[in-house]
Amino acid sequence: MSNTRLRLRLIGTWCGLAVTAFCANLLYANSIEVANAAVSSRSMLASEAGVAAMRAGGNAIDAAVATAFTLAVTYPSAGNLGGGGFAVIRFATGEVFTNDHRERAPSNATRDMFLDDNGQYVPDRARRSHLASGVPGSVAGLLDIHERFGRLSREAVIARAIELAQDGFPLPADLARQFASRYDRFNDIPSTRKIFYKEDGSLYEEGDVFKQADLAATLSRIAKQGRDGFYLGETADLIVAEMARGDGLISKEDLKSYHSVWREPIRGKYRGYEILSMPPPSSGGVLVVQLLNMLEPYDLSELGFHTAASMHLMIEAQRRAYADRAEHLGDPDYYNVPIQKLISKRYALERMSDIGGRASISDDVDAGSWLAEPIETTHFSVIDSEGTAVAFTTTINSAYGSGIVVDGAGFLLNNEMDDFSAKPDTPNMFGLLGDEANAIEPGKRMLSSMTPTIVTRGDKFVLITGSPGGSTIITTTLQVILNVIDHGFTLDEAVNAARFHHQWQPNNVRFEAKVRQSVIDELESMGHVNLNSMREGSAIGDANSILKTRDGITATSDGRNMGGAAGY
Ligand code: DON
Repeated sequence: MSNTRLRLRLIGTWCGLAVTAFCANLLYANSIEVANAAVSSRSMLASEAGVAAMRAGGNAIDAAVATAFTLAVTYPSAGNLGGGGFAVIRFATGEVFTNDHRERAPSNATRDMFLDDNGQYVPDRARRSHLASGVPGSVAGLLDIHERFGRLSREAVIARAIELAQDGFPLPADLARQFASRYDRFNDIPSTRKIFYKEDGSLYEEGDVFKQADLAATLSRIAKQGRDGFYLGETADLIVAEMARGDGLISKEDLKSYHSVWREPIRGKYRGYEILSMPPPSSGGVLVVQLLNMLEPYDLSELGFHTAASMHLMIEAQRRAYADRAEHLGDPDYYNVPIQKLISKRYALERMSDIGGRASISDDVDAGSWLAEPIETTHFSVIDSEGTAVAFTTTINSAYGSGIVVDGAGFLLNNEMDDFSAKPDTPNMFGLLGDEANAIEPGKRMLSSMTPTIVTRGDKFVLITGSPGGSTIITTTLQVILNVIDHGFTLDEAVNAARFHHQWQPNNVRFEAKVRQSVIDELESMGHVNLNSMREGSAIGDANSILKTRDGITATSDGRNMGGAAGY
């Protein structure tokens, strides 16, 4: 347990034991037990903004929108206005809604836009250029969600974000480190340099007050004018001017015509629980349900947590599910995704019918290496006192997206275009393969792995979870669910237990350093290859989650990072 985590937990325990005026009956920590309402996110300031919205009479939707806008200020590597995301919302009545505000390819995008004259994929073009950005969806999605289900005013749910951008906040150590480590890259981009370094070009230190005036102005335009404050007028002008500076493609028309989409959730059943998750253009819900279906016939609880036998089955299921992802998943508005087949129990049985005691072979070819870019994206979970649950994952793709700030508007643009399959058999930054289903087309949404998920039993919510981590999002979400349902872990244990990941191609198993070597040796003897331990300190996922317990609600922010849970 890191020092920060230990410290936060002690504060939490202390607050829990001694409800004093100082704590005002409000708990803040990595892991808290509350009676009514909670937010668990990657930024304590954002969690607090969400909780404050609920304290002010808002519901979980107001809290989610306030949290997301605040993350755009306090966690700029992944919180965003210039990206996209997904929300799964479940009301206590049992009604479920999902909002897709994934970025879209600009209307001038072309299938081969990331290939050079020799037909070779040019990663930097797809990741670090103005061409890397899809048309941002976050603002449309947040406003649509709020308009449909929120109770507070739009101004009220954006107010805290504006305040934190305008007045600043003490920079946490991890952000100071992130800004410093990107100095060479960001210093070359004037609009980005202006945001992340001081006026004299020097670095921010931990504890320095970090202000973002341009971002505050953009947020204020959104608060006053709604979607027109982003997709039309000054903000749109600034985005299009930024595009012109770097030969980007996003046009005024692309911005004006962007809309979020309400979609039917993916529903699955697992050992008597119901799984509610995100449909395409995310692959997350389909794969997590497919994986659970594949594993259901096996007694994972009996096989045990992180035994070679249980990990073998999980790896084999993952190998098959990710192969299906590459072939069959893409934007359902552009490609006929066989969703019902993929999530059927019968198909899962068929898919697992050839599993024996030894590893099967993904393919003779290793398609690619693990991601070269540092990863980011962020997931948060919300529950309110009426039992409304929100699972929300948002991203600009890799950490700090394309690295390009829209000059004058103060926010980073995404590099989500790399989530398309730029060329068949050519891995993207997450080593993921794809083909026709996820090829670039104008207006199409790139395939995602984001898996905001709500688990229920009977008519009650049980678990709200999800994660960042590119391709590992799905397996992280799967492991949190299995840890709770099959292994009976507390939420703290379920979230903080070591994780591993396999995705068919490249044919290797990546695992966190805490996974026992004896188990890895056993897996190797069963024929699993390329078992790669991650460096101490490197982690898979960041699963900020909420669990209903017999006594109340537990909210846990992942101990791998400096997030926080707040509630009352
Ligand atoms: O939508 C996706 O699947 C990716 N753009 C998510 C990227 C991500 O999670 C990066 N890292 N943590």
